[in-house]
Amino acid sequence: MSIQRCHNLTDFRELAKKRLPAPVFHYIDGGADDEITLRRNTTAFDRYDLMPRYLVDVAKIDTRTKLFGKTLEWPVFLSPTGMSRLFHHEKELGVARAAAKAGTLYTLSTLATTRLEDVAAATQGPKMFQIYILKDRGLTAEFVQRCKAAGYDALCLTVDMPMAGNRERDKHTGMTMPPKFGLASLMSFALHPHWSLNFMLNPDFQIANVVHRVDAIGGGRMGLMDYVNSQFDRAVTWPDVEWLAKQWNGPLVLKGLQAPDDAVRARDAGATGIMISNHGGRQLDTAAAPIDCVEPMREAVGDALELIVDGGVRRGTHVLKALALGANACSIGRGYLYALAAGGEAGVSRALTLLRGEIERDMALVGVNSISSISREILTPAA
Ligand code: GLV
Repeated sequence: MSIQRCHNLTDFRELAKKRLPAPVFHYIDGGADDEITLRRNTTAFDRYDLMPRYLVDVAKIDTRTKLFGKTLEWPVFLSPTGMSRLFHHEKELGVARAAAKAGTLYTLSTLATTRLEDVAAATQGPKMFQIYILKDRGLTAEFVQRCKAAGYDALCLTVDMPMAGNRERDKHTGMTMPPKFGLASLMSFALHPHWSLNFMLNPDFQIANVVHRVDAIGGGRMGLMDYVNSQFDRAVTWPDVEWLAKQWNGPLVLKGLQAPDDAVRARDAGATGIMISNHGGRQLDTAAAPIDCVEPMREAVGDALELIVDGGVRRGTHVLKALALGANACSIGRGYLYALAAGGEAGVSRALTLLRGEIERDMALVGVNSISSISREILTPAA
């Protein structure tokens, strides 16, 4: 099967499953505990039906929107995800190039395998850097300065990971980071010689933006989850957000909030946006689906913050529903990682083209011709 046979994000998931050794696929695909949140992030969209209006002029559909002070060609951008090198050798650079080509924003993760300066040099597209507040505050402050120097448009602080979630699939498959050819996973690696050979020939698995401060992964002994649990500061609170907002003095997005009162605190601490997220169901299981949090959060903060629905988005109709409930945009993580695994930069480009096409078609079919004309009127509770 080739990427040309993929017609939606779920098709890319199927192809990624064929291309990757099982432990690596399940590292992307899995969630925490019983994966209730993982599943519900997507199924919760089904609680809302669309109510189309007809005989509206939809000859021209304008999907452009403003976010973080930049114009995006369409209202979906790419969430931060760690360790892209694990899924394809074109890694973060391929994803960032595909995002720029598609007219949208790419977010580079602290846990990425590419330096933030290298991503900035590879694309002119809008970009955000995602950080954690680490025990090593000097490193967090260094990230801010490096992002300014490299011309990043926004900063994203992830707050839902004071420690790593309980991802039992990784335990069952024997997934370690970096992957080791242990007994449990040996068969699966042997069945994917192309991936395994590439992995052995190009062992550049470093958390590239932090290796100069902490021996993390490449060449060293500290794995990804060891890094998270030893370096992330569990004592971070709202004054730290104020500190970061002052250091950065630009668009600052908090990723991982769900409660309306936290959104109010975020606004008061100096954030300009929120990615409503439960980390793709990888952290706290049975946390609420982002689509169900957006309306109460919008009511709590009015127009003061840009709100992004991050979690479970697989279809154009999902994006329309999020915008109708008050979101400014949506973001996808797994959706593009499957495509990266399936076909590198070309895979991501195709996935983004398909999703954007879905949004345009769905807007025409629902009877809206611009992002600003999407309102609560297009929704009705599902039967
Ligand atoms: C890292 O943030 C992960 O969810 O694996």
